[in-house]
Formats: sequence, structure tokens, C-alpha cells
Amino acid sequence: MTLGFVISLGLQLKNHKDIVSQIAGKLGSVDKAQQYLNKCLYYVNIGSNDYINNYFLPQYYPTSHIYNTEQYAEVLIQELSSNLLTLHEIGARKYVLVGLGLLGCTPNAIYLHGTNGSCVDEENAPAYIYNVKLKSLVDNFNNKSSLDSKFIFINSTSESNNQSSDGFLVTNAPCCPSRLVDGGCIPDERPCYNRSEYVFWDDFHPTDAWNQLVAIGSYDDPYSSGYTYPMDIKHLVEQETKIELEFINENTLQLSVSS
Ligand SMILES: *[C@@H]1O[C@H](CO)[C@@H](O)[C@H](O)[C@H]1NC(C)=O
Ligand SMILES: *[C@@H]1O[C@H](CO)[C@@H](O)[C@H](O)[C@H]1NC(C)=O
Ligand SMILES: *[C@@H]1O[C@H](CO)[C@@H](O)[C@H](O)[C@H]1NC(C)=O
Ligand SMILES: *[C@@H]1O[C@H](CO)[C@@H](O)[C@H](O)[C@H]1NC(C)=O
Ligand SMILES: *[C@@H]1O[C@H](CO)[C@@H](O)[C@H](O)[C@H]1NC(C)=O
Repeated sequence: MTLGFVISLGLQLKNHKDIVSQIAGKLGSVDKAQQYLNKCLYYVNIGSNDYINNYFLPQYYPTSHIYNTEQYAEVLIQELSSNLLTLHEIGARKYVLVGLGLLGCTPNAIYLHGTNGSCVDEENAPAYIYNVKLKSLVDNFNNKSSLDSKFIFINSTSESNNQSSDGFLVTNAPCCPSRLVDGGCIPDERPCYNRSEYVFWDDFHPTDAWNQLVAIGSYDDPYSSGYTYPMDIKHLVEQETKIELEFINENTLQLSVSS
């Protein structure tokens, strides 16, 4: 509401269903579309705005009066869980579920709370609570053999993506001069000289240097550092290949039986 109209996850899935029927049209059948989508990786990185632009804004939204942090995390996870099952119906089988990052460490949180450069602990706490629940959702789904799916959890608060030890010089201020209202860059202002030394591009969003590090770490996490659970994206994708092969074999079998 404060940032205008936002397409909810439910509506995104409805739109996705429309696209899937178009894929089915192109490939010849709904079954073929589903087999195709079974091979895809679904990267679900969602939730920070449910805090930053809702729960943390009691002047605009009642959620923090209605729910404590534990209950709010539970409500979000329930909502996510039912949306993921809808995604599963459409054909998704491989999922990356990204946990919340340290919400209290954005330049915006630091600025608004006047903490002189330090993270805002009370805004980090909800992220830890939410992530514990997201990780058990991953366990629950992986244990449901009826789903025939693989889920992984990315721990965005993990010590293994430590901003200072990863060589970023500036972790608590944005590269571009930002607007307080929505945290975006002020148009036509000069950004910092070297953006790859900054974690944050504006008051909320990381730089591509930081995103690249996160992408590499999520893909290849050989030391089981706790950053990816229970496996990294590389292994998730390899699992997919096996299922794909089984598919091909099944199809071949059916073909030879029917011919
Ligand atoms: C704020 O942080 C700076 C740099 O760490 C320090 O020099 C300064 O004394 C701090 N100011 C206050 C009011 O704590
Ligand atoms: C899921 O299965 C694993 C391994 O069998 C087990 O350790 C874990 O407790 C189970 N989790 C849930 C939520 O059932
Ligand atoms: C994520 O990593 C942090 C830091 O290592 C740890 O404290 C937290 O328990 C982890 N969260 C989950 C859900 O495993
Ligand atoms: C991150 O790394 C820096 C420098 O190596 C260290 O001082 C700091 O304690 C680490 N922070 C966390 C949360 O591990
Ligand atoms: C920008 O920062 C990165 C990381 O510290 C450094 O490797 C690079 O040399 C810098 N580039 C310039 C032009 O200063």
C-alpha cells in the first residue's frame, strides 16, 4: 500500500498458470508441459517486504498489533506453504527457498534507528525466527515422498556470508545517495566511486557484487558450511538430471509397450 500496487504471490501463481497453459499449447499437452517444468529450478526468495514494508510499519499496518513475531512468522510460512503446493500442482519439483537476510542491517534500518552504523538487533530477531520455520518446512516437504520433490533452504543469516570478511569495505551505507521515503537512489545524484566495495546499492537492495557472491555460495557450497541445507544448488540440479533420465526411460518403456 505505501509503495503502490504489489502483485501478491497468489496472483503471480495465477499468472504463471496462464503461461503454463501457453507452454502446454506449444508442446502439445499439459503432461508434456509438466514434464518440462519438472526439470526447472524454482528459486523462491520472498518475505523481507512482509517485514520491512508491513510488520515494521505499525503506523500503516496492524500486523504487529495482531501477531507477535513468532505468530507472524507462522502465518507467513503457512501462506508460503500453501502457495508452494499450488506451484507443485503446476509442475514444480525442484525448489530453492531463500531465508530472510539480516533485516536490521539495511542502511535504512540503521539510519531510521540512529544506531550509528550498527545493525538493529530487534529487526534481525524476526529473521532468525522465520528462518527456523522455513528450514523445518524444507524438512517436512522433503520427507513427504508423495510430493516427489526436492527442496533446499538458503540460510541468508549464516556466518559463512560475512560481509566484512568477504572483503566489502562498506557494509552499512548505500553506494548511491538514497531517498528516505522508499530507500531508492535519488535520480541524477553521483553514486559511489567503486560499487564493488559496497554491500548495498541503495538503502535496501544489495549491489551486484554482493548478489554474485550469494549466487556462487548458494550454487557451490562444498564444505556443508550450513549456508545451504540439506545440499547446494549444484547438487539439487544433479538430482534433477537423475529424475529426468528415469522419465526418459519410462517414456521409452511406454512407447515400446504400445508399439
Ligand atoms: C559513531 O561511530 C563512530 C565510528 O565508529 C565513532 O567514532 C563515534 O564516536 C560514534 N558516535 C557515537 C555517538 O557513538
Ligand atoms: C525428515 O527426515 C529426516 C531424515 O529421515 C529426519 O531426520 C527428520 O527429523 C525428518 N523431519 C521431519 C520434519 O519429519
Ligand atoms: C543460520 O546461520 C546462523 C549463523 O550461523 C545460525 O545462528 C542460525 O541458526 C542458522 N539458521 C538456521 C535456520 O539454521
Ligand atoms: C565477520 O568477519 C569479521 C572480520 O573477519 C569479524 O570481525 C566478525 O566478527 C565476523 N562477524 C560474524 C557475524 O561472524
Ligand atoms: C574496486 O574495489 C574492488 C574490491 O575492493 C577492487 O578489487 C578494485 O580494484 C576496485 N576498483 C577500482 C577501480 O578502484
